[in-house]
Amino acid sequence: MPHRRRLGPMNSTPRRVENLHTDKGKVPVYATGVVEQPWDDYRPADHGVWRQLYERQRALLVGRACDEFLQAQDAMGMTPDRIPKFADINRVLERATGWTLIGVEGLLPELDFFDHLARRRFPVTWWIRRPDQVDYIEEPDLFHDLFGHVPLLMNPLFADYMQAYGRGGLKAHAIGPEALQQLTRLYWYTVEFGLIRQHDGLRIYGSGIVSSKGESLYCLDSPAPNRIGFDLERIMRTRYRIDTYQKTYFVIDSFAQLMDATGPDFTPIYARLAAQPAIAAGAVLPGDRVLQRGSGEGWAADGDV
Ligand code: PHE
Ligand code: FE
Repeated sequence: MPHRRRLGPMNSTPRRVENLHTDKGKVPVYATGVVEQPWDDYRPADHGVWRQLYERQRALLVGRACDEFLQAQDAMGMTPDRIPKFADINRVLERATGWTLIGVEGLLPELDFFDHLARRRFPVTWWIRRPDQVDYIEEPDLFHDLFGHVPLLMNPLFADYMQAYGRGGLKAHAIGPEALQQLTRLYWYTVEFGLIRQHDGLRIYGSGIVSSKGESLYCLDSPAPNRIGFDLERIMRTRYRIDTYQKTYFVIDSFAQLMDATGPDFTPIYARLAAQPAIAAGAVLPGDRVLQRGSGEGWAADGDV
């Protein structure tokens, strides 16, 4: 965790306000205000981390990430040279789909996060991981948020999906914790860890994958995980992993399919699913459209969230 990190002066230290104890363990909660990206405070080591991660992932993702993702990254003018300025990205993004990036200190409380998305504002953590954290960091940093999440906001369908998710989150929050849990699983298995079937094979669109070297390889190449066709209610019942690669990836055929499947009112679905048992992260069910049944090799025996 980037706890006692600090490369910058005190005024650019992320303000962590408390730790929340949740079913996912201890979760840091940051000051919720929108902050100006302190771009001038980034040091050469910060830009170096960006460059290293950017070059490594781009080399890996050609032929692995979906075309929309790769094209959008280029269109937004992201380069390995230096950490992008949010203001520069915003000029392009706003014109494309009406989304804007806002700088934040780190993970936001759920309700704040949903509210931003519902207004087409995407919160991006302003600080980047340290050089010794390039391979793994437990919480989202600038690289995950900006490199991983922002490119697909250039895509009109995905841009609408993210806003609908924000609105849906506000609604689920009012319904109760079980609804929220089901919705969070949908986010996890689509926005963070989704795969898409493209004309030439399976590709990645999930942000949690594209920002991870190991999982970018594992999710497509390894015989271990299940790859199963997207099924909304199945996903909303499926537990997931936060400390290992996923045991199961769900595959959409197109962003249009994702929009169509998530368009209906979830209220009755939440109620119906609340009465059904949750599904283990690695389970394969009789009704699944199985693209690959995982070998299960190397799976942790417990620890599904
Ligand atoms: N249709 C969902 C609802 O009624 C909202 C939603 C849309 C959630 C898209 C996620 C993604 O709550
Ligand atoms: Fe994320």
